Amino acid sequence: MNTWLTIEALGLTERATCIIDDVSLQLDAQRTVVLGPNGAGKSTLLRLIHGLLHPTGGSLNWPQPLTQAMVFQRPVMLRTTALANVIYGLKLKGYAATECERRARQALARVGLEALAKRPARLLSGGEQQRVALARAWALEPQLLILDEPTASLDPASSREVERIIKAIAGAGARILMTTHNLGQARRLADEIVFIDRGRIVEQAPVAEFFNKPRTSAAQDFLKEEIP
Ligand SMILES: Nc1ncnc2c1ncn2[C@@H]1O[C@H](COP(=O)(O)OP(=O)(O)O)[C@@H](O)[C@H]1O
Ligand SMILES: [Mg+2]
Repeated sequence: MNTWLTIEALGLTERATCIIDDVSLQLDAQRTVVLGPNGAGKSTLLRLIHGLLHPTGGSLNWPQPLTQAMVFQRPVMLRTTALANVIYGLKLKGYAATECERRARQALARVGLEALAKRPARLLSGGEQQRVALARAWALEPQLLILDEPTASLDPASSREVERIIKAIAGAGARILMTTHNLGQARRLADEIVFIDRGRIVEQAPVAEFFNKPRTSAAQDFLKEEIP
């Protein structure tokens, strides 16, 4: 894949604390997983890339602007049905009502939730809510899907289902940029790993290379400590 984002000297300083520190990065893999210890700045980096935070330094350079959607660890569900949750995002995009409903039903079917379309979203299980969030994102047909620890609150079966959906969204052509605490998941989903620590890029490598031959002692220590 061609380079889809070049990050130059990106920085975010909040109250004299440097959270993202001079990050320069070229992203060209289809599926990139950002790894790093707690507090490394993974969520902050993803939020900067999605435009939810403004950097205090540096820049994001998009060779071609990409349509984006983001999914979080805890899905934010509106107090209405699963179907209406998916329709909401489509309405904002300006689709006509019948087209909204058609696309929303199709997206729910793709995540295996067509039978729960009319259920109140907030009464669904955590795994089902995350699938609604994925349907809401997928319905928008984003060219880039950003996911911040999408399975961190889920049981193993729900996590595998979410992984299946992420693979399917990538299979439909979207770029994936995500974080996870689950190293097995990183191996299964990533083409490329970006390892960050204390707000800095420490290592960027193809997935097999990162896990088999991490170059830095920081990455070696991280892989030793984390339970796969
Ligand atoms: N709005 C904020 N103001 C000050 N510090 C913050 C803010 N958001 C995050 N941080 C701090 O920035 C660091 C990185 O946070 P985060 O991006 O959430 O890390 P990660 O996702 O890798 O665990 C942490 O030390 C966190 O406490
Ligand atoms: Mg985080």
